Amino acid sequence: MSTQHTESERTAGESEERIDSAWTNYEFEGDAKISATDVNVHYGEEHALKNIDLDIPEKSVTALIGPSGCGKSTFLRCLNRMNDRIKSARVDGSVELDGEEIYQDGVNLVELRKRVGMVFQQPNPFPKSIRDNVSYGPRKHGDIDTGLLSRLLGRGDDETEDELVERALRQAALWDEVSDRLDDNALGLSGGQQQRLCIARCLAVDPEVILMDEPASALDPIATAKIEDLIEDLAEDYTVVVVTHSMQQAARISDQTAVFLTGGELVEYGDTDQIFENPESQRVEDYITGKFG
Ligand SMILES: Nc1ncnc2c1ncn2[C@@H]1O[C@H](COP(=O)(O)OP(=O)(O)O)[C@@H](O)[C@H]1O
Ligand SMILES: [Mg+2]
Repeated sequence: MSTQHTESERTAGESEERIDSAWTNYEFEGDAKISATDVNVHYGEEHALKNIDLDIPEKSVTALIGPSGCGKSTFLRCLNRMNDRIKSARVDGSVELDGEEIYQDGVNLVELRKRVGMVFQQPNPFPKSIRDNVSYGPRKHGDIDTGLLSRLLGRGDDETEDELVERALRQAALWDEVSDRLDDNALGLSGGQQQRLCIARCLAVDPEVILMDEPASALDPIATAKIEDLIEDLAEDYTVVVVTHSMQQAARISDQTAVFLTGGELVEYGDTDQIFENPESQRVEDYITGKFG
């Protein structure tokens, strides 16, 4: 084992290996929904992500895996410019959504984050009713009209809102559990229900991409299984990018897997079966077989 890298740069047990760019060259049919090119992120002096090139196919599940601190969350936040909110963060490179650069002047960040929604590790519903949690986004974005359209269609505002709330809760596989208590406070739900509510809140504004950062890691196995089933269903209509520290979860739910390793490098990216059964990188194999991380 080489001593070129200090302990702090390598996870204990991780061997030295030159990265071959062919390992991240994943060919898929169709256009990329998201295309990241030469993305670098610094937090102050710390170089947290290095030269990431990653194309994400639409309507599928892409898993981002790797040991803690390797930059998975940082990369996820690049995809809807959430790092803009972190003062010390500097993002260089290009991220295109449907071929349009999101890091250019004039991009409306509210609109971007509506198209590219995010679900976090800790369910974070608002301390409001279940209904209000779902309708909050559309209200903010003005999708629930101020009455004119409803009057023209001969129906009330509430009906429009009710339809939207039901649609999003059904999509998030939560409707049957909450339909009789929509006005109850969301904080009274279980953790797993709260997380599905957060997914419903995200779906309510009609996103195209859903970013999920360890969405099940705070949940028990049954609630986790529900989230995993939901993720697979969502990928029929949405592009889902999910960070997980659970390799089993990545193997179960994703179509393609990107492996980040210590130092903020993308080491291998490919079909999930190939990554788990026949990785090209020795370090990825060591990681997957539990030799480090
Ligand atoms: N808000 C932040 N400010 C400063 N450094 C950060 C911040 N977020 C992450 N980092 C650093 O960037 C590196 C990657 O972190 P992160 O993206 O959270 O990794 P992961 O999600 O893979 O655990 C880590 O060294 C971490 O300490
Ligand atoms: Mg993280």
